[in-house]
Amino acid sequence: MFHPLPVGAVDQLTDDSVAVTFDVPPELHELFRHTPGQHLALRRFVDGREIRRTYSICAPAPAAGGAPALRVGIRLVDGGEFSTFALKELAVGDVVEVMPPMGRFLLPPRPGYFAAVVGGSGITPVLSMAATLLAREPGARFCLIRSDRTAASTMFLDEVADLKDRHPDRFQLVTVLSREEQQSGLPSGRLDAGRLTTLLPALLPVDRIDGWFLCGPFGLVQGAESALRALGVDRARVHQEIFHVDEGPAPVVARAAAPAHASLTATLDGRSGTWPVREGESLLETVLRSRADAPYACKGGVCGTCRAFVVTGEVRMDRNFALEPEETEAGYVLACQSHPATAEVELDFDR
Ligand code: FES
Repeated sequence: MFHPLPVGAVDQLTDDSVAVTFDVPPELHELFRHTPGQHLALRRFVDGREIRRTYSICAPAPAAGGAPALRVGIRLVDGGEFSTFALKELAVGDVVEVMPPMGRFLLPPRPGYFAAVVGGSGITPVLSMAATLLAREPGARFCLIRSDRTAASTMFLDEVADLKDRHPDRFQLVTVLSREEQQSGLPSGRLDAGRLTTLLPALLPVDRIDGWFLCGPFGLVQGAESALRALGVDRARVHQEIFHVDEGPAPVVARAAAPAHASLTATLDGRSGTWPVREGESLLETVLRSRADAPYACKGGVCGTCRAFVVTGEVRMDRNFALEPEETEAGYVLACQSHPATAEVELDFDR
């Protein structure tokens, strides 16, 4: 599942962020071709301890049959073990273990008018979406509304400016800086729900947007989602990916009393097993005790890597920042957040 890939380039983007490019050998090209919006899970071992993190791919998607473009954006997180390593130590030629692209926050190129509201490093997957869309679909349009603290801390400034130069009529860029005055005429300050409710209709024909992509910290994504709801946008047109969960109540999906003894049957890569669930552990932890290949990255309900289908039984999730309502309604859960609510639970990681 993880493949060792050499680092082909490390580019400093800002004082606290880099873009890392991986080289992919020809035999893995097919596996590592991404759809705009997807991310990569990376892992390394420190003193025998495994550290995994997911980072979104910023490069435009390759054409069918083309070589993969694996470039991810990494911003330093306070106390973040992987991001500190990436910024301070990672160098060209180092080998990192990388999982093939995954994620369902996607914009495959298609005709239409699309918009994104992003904060901070939330630009990363959206840059791949906008660049791929504008290059491949001559009739498509994209409006990017981005929020950052200051111009100096803004990731991919040049890449976004380049899109504007290349597609002046089809790419609209609106930047809001929270801690710095700017020349665009927009006042500084946070992009919250109230501000977006006024700003969006002034910028765009809101009811003609075919897809909205919200990406960044929890607070920003939630604010943008409420603004779109207040403006009457159909929920099915709104897609979101949360990068950091700041303070705030976690959305709880289901609550049910835990059975005293529960067992879990899980299917993974076509092989099944049944194990007792220890008290308090998540269903992912139950599987990991016997199957080290169980998929996960954040273990925090954010990345969606551990998504599994509930075949039988019921589970309760502590929190869910990754699955769309349609996915939970269809029976998918995040194994890292799930606990048994019935004596027997069966999960399928392959669906
Ligand atoms: S491992 Fe990231 S949501 Fe479960």
